[in-house]
Amino acid sequence: MGLTFNTETFRGDFTFHNSPAAIRRFPFPFDRDDYMYSVNMEPHVPGPKGTVFEHNFDVDEHYLSEMRDRALVLAEDPLRCQSLPHMTLAGWDLLELIMESKARDYPDLFELHKNGNRWHWINRPMQIDQSFTFLDETTLPYGPMEYITRQAQGDFTLQDQRDDNLWIEAGMVTTQADWSLDFDIGMGFHEWHAPVPKAHELGVFDRALKFLLKLQHGAPVRRFNWTMTVDPLLDTSPENYPVWGPTRAMITPGNVGSRMHLRVELQTLHRLPRSNAIAFPIRCYLIRFDELVTIPKWGRRLHRVIRDLPVELATYKGFERNRATMVDYLARFDDGAPTSPGWMPDPE
Ligand code: HEM
Repeated sequence: MGLTFNTETFRGDFTFHNSPAAIRRFPFPFDRDDYMYSVNMEPHVPGPKGTVFEHNFDVDEHYLSEMRDRALVLAEDPLRCQSLPHMTLAGWDLLELIMESKARDYPDLFELHKNGNRWHWINRPMQIDQSFTFLDETTLPYGPMEYITRQAQGDFTLQDQRDDNLWIEAGMVTTQADWSLDFDIGMGFHEWHAPVPKAHELGVFDRALKFLLKLQHGAPVRRFNWTMTVDPLLDTSPENYPVWGPTRAMITPGNVGSRMHLRVELQTLHRLPRSNAIAFPIRCYLIRFDELVTIPKWGRRLHRVIRDLPVELATYKGFERNRATMVDYLARFDDGAPTSPGWMPDPE
């Protein structure tokens, strides 16, 4: 498939960048010129070739650098990965889901060979060759969830289902948009969503939970979430706030194009077969404003979405103070022409 992995950083000198191909396949999350919370879930079925939807778990040019960044976060703060004791089986379910998907979808990069419970996993980009016994933790260097999520882009949480609720009780969370696994672990669906404005009143969380409680194995769903991040920092956690919080006050008309990033999360939800838990992979994609506006439709549309977003959402997402500067910059790329429906770029 000819995937070349970037050597880049998500901290310090911030050498992260998107190639022209990565820009074109960026999951731009707005299918219209305005935005409000909704129960925006659709079946997670294979999408067009080359898009981030082509495979169950997208592997892209940032893979190796993202895995290096995760290892750095974990070395500094091991509590970013936690699994309550009863969630180990869900961890094995997740390991199986990721290994099977990657070996099937990227056979030149990953291989999985099974002989009963004796499994052999090869991850070529990370130079890992591991034989282990499925369901026997002592045969892996980490617990099953930690083992596989050190090799998979995006954050992951595992939700146990009981008492008509979902409980966040395990996770690998190093690339999050300002929330903390250590703070949320053990909470129920409405409780961990408590800080979100407007959506509770709109009934979004009641409907989403009702839907998820009936999620079936083999029929995953997906949704987008998005926010804004200054500099391509993956670890915008509350724990790391002293590092990134002050950068919000550093945006100027001169640097907004190169420092402000649209941060998109492609979230998928999978029912797991043995544990009946729900896996929630949260894959984060970053794009600089000056990369994004190279797609004319996206520049136009993002201008309108940001300009017209309700103040509660812009405040919650943390960019109300920079909104005027962002809108002034984006206005230069909005000629007022209508935008075509859907989020795909227009043909060139
Ligand atoms: C079961 C898996 C899910 C988990 C673990 C999860 C977790 C979270 C967390 C931790 C936050 C941040 C809350 C904070 O500010 O502290 C959040 C935000 C949010 N979640 Fe979920 N969520 C899940 C599923 C869903 C679903 C199915 C929906 C569908 C409507 C949804 C809608 C939202 C929305 C709208 C926000 C606000 C995001 C923003 O504006 O940036 N979540 N979620």
